[in-house]
Amino acid sequence: MRILVTGATGNVGRLVVDHLLAAGTAETAGTIEVRALTTNPAKAALPDGVEVVQGYLGRTETMPAALDGVDRMYLAPLPGTAREVLALAGKAGVDRVVALSGGQGSWWYGVQEAVNESGIDATHLEPGEFMLNSTMWAEQIRTTGVVRDAYPGSANAPIDLDDIAAVAATVLLEDGHLGRSYELTGPETISRAEMVRCIGAALGREIPFEELTHEQAVELLTPSMGEYARWYVDGMAELAAHPQQPTATVRELTGRPATTFAAWAVQHAGEFR
Ligand SMILES: NC(=O)c1ccc[n+]([C@@H]2O[C@H](COP(=O)([O-])OP(=O)(O)OC[C@H]3O[C@@H](n4cnc5c(N)ncnc54)[C@H](OP(=O)(O)O)[C@@H]3O)[C@@H](O)[C@H]2O)c1
Repeated sequence: MRILVTGATGNVGRLVVDHLLAAGTAETAGTIEVRALTTNPAKAALPDGVEVVQGYLGRTETMPAALDGVDRMYLAPLPGTAREVLALAGKAGVDRVVALSGGQGSWWYGVQEAVNESGIDATHLEPGEFMLNSTMWAEQIRTTGVVRDAYPGSANAPIDLDDIAAVAATVLLEDGHLGRSYELTGPETISRAEMVRCIGAALGREIPFEELTHEQAVELLTPSMGEYARWYVDGMAELAAHPQQPTATVRELTGRPATTFAAWAVQHAGEFR
């Protein structure tokens, strides 16, 4: 069985490659061939045992060659060309797609619609906020030792990218998941103040949380997030009033507990140092 991983050097795609390779050695040695899509095979540094092909979802003329002989595909989220890519996948005989997308109302929902319209059997993965997003505090922590942000009590259940990738590999390989949409979160609801405490514990020092107003936070984030800064801060306000509850999907699908934020902070402490 040949599996194409698109966005294979991306934050999620690269980890999907690793999980597929690990599953291949444990249970299905020799029966899984992993093909990885990248614009620059020389730079990609993908592991041995992976067939590397040149291309990008956003340049659909590169996709027929990448899809040739492929049975299953991990589809990275690029709404703009998803319809065209899926039409090419259907033509190439791809019979299972695992798509990283988002629920209704999110920017990535277009991927989900395109997959459903394609008629290819598929599973949708709908992750909540990524733990990785907390690295937006890294520069402040490095340069001032303090986090200045709004809504310390705003709480959600962020997820480790490695858990998303583990789920993606599981549903690519295992039967019984077609036609399903899985909401993926971390294992616990955690406030932003608690997240900062975990990062401080991982670094071995206390990091004060200096609370900003709603408008101050929009102003702080606008240079990096543009028009999305207000949307993001409005979302924090909403989560302060209605914290997101965790789902058990990662544990149920992979058989291992989802990574806690405290454990993630220890693994990623170097990014805040
Ligand atoms: N809740 C959430 O936060 C949420 C939910 C759903 C989805 N998402 C989205 O999920 C994605 C996951 O991140 P990811 O890092 O795995 O990224 P990705 O979008 O899946 O893949 C990024 C890869 O695409 C390739 N690429 C080629 N040309 C590109 C171009 N012009 N622009 C961008 N990428 C190009 C790059 O690899 P090569 O250079 O090797 O070709 C890059 O490594 C993000 O886009 C995120 O916004 C987020």
